[in-house]
Amino acid sequence: MILEINDITKSFGAVDVLKGVSMSVDSAQCYGLVGDNGAGKSTLLKVLSGVHHPDSGEIRLEDRVVDFNAEIGARLAGIEMIFQDLALCDDLDATANIFMGREQRKSTVGRFGFLDHEGMKKQTEEVLASLGTDLPADQRVRTLSGGQRQLVAVARALEFQPKLLLMDEPTAALSVDKVGVLLELIERLKARGVAIILVSHRFTDLIQVCDKVGVLVHGKIVDEFEVAGHSVDNLTTRIVRRMSGLDLDGEE
Ligand SMILES: Nc1ncnc2c1ncn2[C@@H]1O[C@H](COP(=O)(O)OP(=O)(O)O)[C@@H](O)[C@H]1O
Ligand SMILES: [Mg+2]
Repeated sequence: MILEINDITKSFGAVDVLKGVSMSVDSAQCYGLVGDNGAGKSTLLKVLSGVHHPDSGEIRLEDRVVDFNAEIGARLAGIEMIFQDLALCDDLDATANIFMGREQRKSTVGRFGFLDHEGMKKQTEEVLASLGTDLPADQRVRTLSGGQRQLVAVARALEFQPKLLLMDEPTAALSVDKVGVLLELIERLKARGVAIILVSHRFTDLIQVCDKVGVLVHGKIVDEFEVAGHSVDNLTTRIVRRMSGLDLDGEE
């Protein structure tokens, strides 16, 4: 397993948000996480990306217990997160967004060398091309469409060559015709061996790209299942029932 978590809890003050969450995801797999607003989905992803420290429980990455506050940063360990609001700088272009905080310099004078604008632009064009888009590397992010901004956020995450990519509601900012592009992108990342955790309210899309789905209700995973061999309709019904607290026969 790339990632395995056991009995993770997290409270904010008196509010118990995660009440013992366990799950796992393997390389080249996509784990879909669904649940109502306030269920704790974003909190769980933030625990995995080191934004929040869990109160208890264990995170194992490639069979090693990790503690992102004390030991190593999640990014160094190979975990990247694409936040719900994308967190891009609108006044900068794609290249500057991708290399922010890790600008590359021409090597001659060490870290005081001149910025290697050409090199960074070329790498940006390459990573965008690998995502199947020809959007210009030097256009301000403000002027891009929702789908193009999403691609810039994904490109930035990919430049770190993550083993695990966390995507928090990536379809929320997309028009319906752009959702297909994102789903294709997820398939490509899986083909490269990247493990993905995808949070989405679009159950049909989620079922299409995910190998496993977990239903989070009030900070607990109440149901988890493999997607293979089931119809989209059956699984959608199952998710909706679980989210409203019913068992699989529709009983409370
Ligand atoms: N930094 C925080 N401080 C206090 N409460 C928080 C914080 N982040 C999230 N919460 C609370 O935790 C609960 C779960 O939030 P969240 O993880 O964003 O849910 P979801 O992403 O499933 O909608 C909500 O009640 C929210 O108000
Ligand atoms: Mg959220």
